[in-house]
Amino acid sequence: MSVERKADFLVIGSGMAGLWFSHRVSRQGSVLLVTKKEDSESNTNYAQCGIAAAVSSDDSAQLHYEDTLRTGAGIAHPEVVKLVTEAGPGLVRELFSLGVPFNTYADGSGAEHFDLGQEGGHRRRRIVHAHDFTGSEIEHGLLKVVRSNRDVTMLEEHFAIDLDLDEDGRCCGALALDKSTGCIELVRARVCLLATGGMGQAWLHTTNPRIATGDGVAMGYRAGARIADMEFVQFHPTSLYGHRIEGRAFLISEAVRGEGAILRTRDGHAFMPGYHPDADLAPRDVVARAIATELKLRGGDYVLLDATHLDPKRLRARFPNISETCLRLGIDITRQPIPVVPAAHYVCGGIETNDRAETSVPGLFAAGECACSGLHGANRLASNSLLEALVMADRAAERAGGEVRGQKSDVRSQKSEVQSSKSRVLSPESAADDAHVVELRRRLQERMWQSAGIVRTDAGLAEARGELATLGAEAEGLGSSVADMELRNLLAASRLVVECALRRPESRGLHHNEDHPKPDDRYQRDTVISRSELDPSPA
Ligand code: FAD
Ligand code: SIN
Repeated sequence: MSVERKADFLVIGSGMAGLWFSHRVSRQGSVLLVTKKEDSESNTNYAQCGIAAAVSSDDSAQLHYEDTLRTGAGIAHPEVVKLVTEAGPGLVRELFSLGVPFNTYADGSGAEHFDLGQEGGHRRRRIVHAHDFTGSEIEHGLLKVVRSNRDVTMLEEHFAIDLDLDEDGRCCGALALDKSTGCIELVRARVCLLATGGMGQAWLHTTNPRIATGDGVAMGYRAGARIADMEFVQFHPTSLYGHRIEGRAFLISEAVRGEGAILRTRDGHAFMPGYHPDADLAPRDVVARAIATELKLRGGDYVLLDATHLDPKRLRARFPNISETCLRLGIDITRQPIPVVPAAHYVCGGIETNDRAETSVPGLFAAGECACSGLHGANRLASNSLLEALVMADRAAERAGGEVRGQKSDVRSQKSEVQSSKSRVLSPESAADDAHVVELRRRLQERMWQSAGIVRTDAGLAEARGELATLGAEAEGLGSSVADMELRNLLAASRLVVECALRRPESRGLHHNEDHPKPDDRYQRDTVISRSELDPSPA
């Protein structure tokens, strides 16, 4: 016996993309939102710096468009960049009016304006923020809105296992594991949105929390969706060295450099001016590679981020989260330089979508970090990902709402006990401490760090391909606990990173291959992979 649920819209993931979609689409029908941990646990919750939008009088969507397109290194899709940068200001104001407490100030006439931060690659101050815990404020603001909406049912601690397709290949729901009971639930829906976030946990060092295991990309791939541009992985230059908090490296926001902090070698040399005219505010990939080069040249495990020359009062007020967390760990950032190293942060690629967030599988939408809308191309401009999640979830809601309206009767959210061929009871956490799973995960993370990290080589990528195949075969023999399934999803998503990287024998944006150090015009296009090509089913 297992549970079957029905809803018009199934949403998988409760970060920015899943919550915004649920909020918007609830006007059109019933929404069931499943999320694998407690509702606030997401990458969104840890975002610090803010959300980019051209809201100031000296800025324009056109300038934001140009900055985003330039950063995308020839692969960003101009029409998507245009629509996202144009829709951004209105939606950010809407978030504010819903109660997200972005920092503002009043001018001489009493008019209220957003206080704007600065990050690399942006020619204007355009980062709307709530101190340095913007993501948490957005997450909690949207959760409040969604929780009070009677048309949205939220199921926490529910792990989506796989998508369900009907005989025509249309997505008609998903299987989810209720972690508290071990029961599998079959969710039937007219439309499904994947909003499962990133996959940072595939690398040894990451800013991403434990939920970031590439589940959505793996599920989409298994369902036959086209996957694009997975080779473009962003390594954030400045994560705190030497401390891990619940499986992730603590981020020291780029906004700290935006306020004037300087990267130095351990003997005090400010090295960034030697790498790029924009020095400490050069694009992230340039800064991350510069740090990797300095560490290789000079040895040592970290460099220093020096904010000690900045006004201590302002520093504490602007970055309360960073200054208090560092202080708890024994570093007073107003007096001591912060030891930092790069860490895996964001994957630009994902499930390929069009400009309405539709994937190649009918009935399946994807938005946010698990999707590849074409906004970022080969490199992501700082603070453009919350923006993408917001705008693309909004586009998805508009399109999906129309699809459901076009169908006949309304399916109110309901739950029933059904006899199902898929009915199984799993032991959700039984293998969480299984030494074998832990060991396989560690081997995966080390291999990805070494071979699919900041700087790659042909031989390293080929080695990664081999090791992932070996790990994949070992993981097949595991059971069906959440830890087992997450490991298999991480392996599937990592394989897509490596396969995409092997198909790009050039260096462009975030993908840097030492054997092909320059861009090559022949590869100025997306890398697209699908299951039918990589794992064709036997004839
Ligand atoms: P997420 O917010 O990651 O949400 C994914 C959701 O899916 C979670 O609820 C998760 O539990 C759920 N989920 C995953 N798998 C399953 C499954 N199998 N079953 C059920 N549920 C599942 N971007 C910016 O633009 N500005 C910033 O300042 C910024 N700072 C950042 C700082 C940090 C430390 C990190 C890690 C990222 C930062 N980013 C920033 C990136 C940005 O936060 C993310 O790209 C964005 O929040 C992704 O939103 P999302 O809705 O796509 O996914
Ligand atoms: C940061 O605060 O540096 C992260 C911003 C981002 O990833 O967009």
